[in-house]
Amino acid sequence: MDGAHSHEKAQMAPHATEIYGRLGEAVFWRIARAFYARIELQSELRPMFPRDLEEPIRNQAEFLIQYFGGPTSYSERKGHPRLRMRHAQFAIGVRERNAWVACMEGALIDAAVPEPERAVMSKYFADTATFLMNADT
Ligand code: HEM
Repeated sequence: MDGAHSHEKAQMAPHATEIYGRLGEAVFWRIARAFYARIELQSELRPMFPRDLEEPIRNQAEFLIQYFGGPTSYSERKGHPRLRMRHAQFAIGVRERNAWVACMEGALIDAAVPEPERAVMSKYFADTATFLMNADT
């Protein structure tokens, strides 16, 4: 890609909090459902999650809706996200981090998230998953 094009792309990249307004609500539920459908099949990560995935699906969808600029139902129901604290009980090393990110990258495709929003979301997930690492596994 030449310089003019990368400049154009950088200008077009929306801020995270604009994404809900640009894509609407349904895509976040599609992402959460697609993500947990992949977790269901991920034998290393599946045991970390409860047997019934409906509550995790709701947690993830409402969290993403809030983070990407939509209504704040997640915090009204659960309080401040405090993601580091909420993940402290799970051992997250580089293997777990990479497996989680792979499930989420697949979910963004399954949910047909368009560009340029998809790139903004991918970067957020990669960075946050690294930030949540808390073990040497
Ligand atoms: C971008 C990275 C991540 C984000 C944004 C994220 C977000 C969340 C959120 C919002 C919850 C619900 C917490 C609650 O309300 O109680 C959650 C739960 C959970 N997360 Fe993560 N997470 C990330 C990475 C990871 C990684 C890398 C792992 C482990 C491999 C992981 C494992 C779990 C587990 C086991 C739960 C419990 C399921 C539940 O109660 O909803 N997460 N995560």
